[in-house]
Amino acid sequence: MSHPWLEKIKVVNFRNISSDVITFGNGINCIFGDNGNGKTNILEAINFLIHKKSFRKNTAFPQILSIDCEESEIIFSSVFVVEGERKTLSAKISSDSSSWFYNQEPLRGKNPVSCIFINPFDSYHFFNSSTFRRKWFDEHISLWDVDYKKKLRDYHQSLKFRNTLLAKKPSYFLDQIFAIDENLANVSKLIIEKRCIFLNEISDFYKKTFKAIFSEENDLEIQYESKMIGLTDLEIKNILKKNIEKDKILGHTAYGIHKDDYTPYFNGLRSFDYCSLGQQKMSYLSLIFAYIELLRYKYRVYPVVLIDDVSGELDKERWGNLINYLKICKYQVLITTANESFQKELEKINGATKILVANGRILKN
Ligand SMILES: Nc1ncnc2c1ncn2[C@@H]1O[C@H](COP(=O)(O)OP(=O)(O)OP(=O)(O)O)[C@@H](O)[C@H]1O
Ligand SMILES: [Mg+2]
Repeated sequence: MSHPWLEKIKVVNFRNISSDVITFGNGINCIFGDNGNGKTNILEAINFLIHKKSFRKNTAFPQILSIDCEESEIIFSSVFVVEGERKTLSAKISSDSSSWFYNQEPLRGKNPVSCIFINPFDSYHFFNSSTFRRKWFDEHISLWDVDYKKKLRDYHQSLKFRNTLLAKKPSYFLDQIFAIDENLANVSKLIIEKRCIFLNEISDFYKKTFKAIFSEENDLEIQYESKMIGLTDLEIKNILKKNIEKDKILGHTAYGIHKDDYTPYFNGLRSFDYCSLGQQKMSYLSLIFAYIELLRYKYRVYPVVLIDDVSGELDKERWGNLINYLKICKYQVLITTANESFQKELEKINGATKILVANGRILKN
């Protein structure tokens, strides 16, 4: 296999995880253990090392530092196999400083290895929160499109300034707002274009992965909802200008691409109103696997896939389907479960690496 994969990791002072070396195989890795023993913590450590942040909201150094630590420093050391060669990725984190190293050299810019974290709650949030959906798309587009990330940052900085002006209303604030709108309109147009392209590209994979994983003949679609699609800079600027009276009363910007949304459809019906929890879970998993396919085929990015117990809501047959899909996917997967029947299914996979965690220690590796 030519994709980068994690061969081993050692963490010191990270949550309840012991400092034993944990080794992985390049295919499917199953992490078993009872509730509260450290399965998710292992995935979180890997995600933290790669993305420099937790998958959890508002989780900073004090939360991830082991309660029982003697020194308040977290150390990560790992070995990845990249194009057949061993490379080390390590990090040292304390309350006031953090540093990352790739092959012993300070890591600058983008991490050469990537991972996707699949969380059991993401599906629920995706179907219930427009903020989550917006963030989901922004983060997933940003992961491969640095320009999108920059434009988005630019947009949010300008928006923040605009909102401060609207809230405080200093003298001549309207002149300043019109100057900001010039930039907002320009950046909005580019962001909208990129969102449309992304949605277009992922759509095919989305339908295909749903069919490949769940072998069902349903039509899945996601529609990008923006009132500014296809507009010119000038038209966007005029819309912002037209809404200024409302913004002045509200004290913030009510209209713009920061309010855009994405609506998932299932057989032509809005998934929010129509889908069961299981169907939502299947749709969400298909979307995330579609994203992984898109990364692989279009951008030649091969992430390690971290799946944290997603067994809830899926019946045995659909679980089986998901496992069969993972078996044929040529990427490294780390999957956790505390669910006994799902564990039994996973144990049947030939050649999978099994890891048993108890009280933060690796009992079997
Ligand atoms: N900073 C910390 N220091 C020490 N232990 C911690 C820290 N943060 C969390 N823990 C412990 O980690 C354990 C939870 O680990 P984790 O979430 O990985 O469990 P899990 O095996 O995934 O369980 P489940 O099957 O319920 O999801 C808890 O026992 C908690 O007390
Ligand atoms: Mg867990």
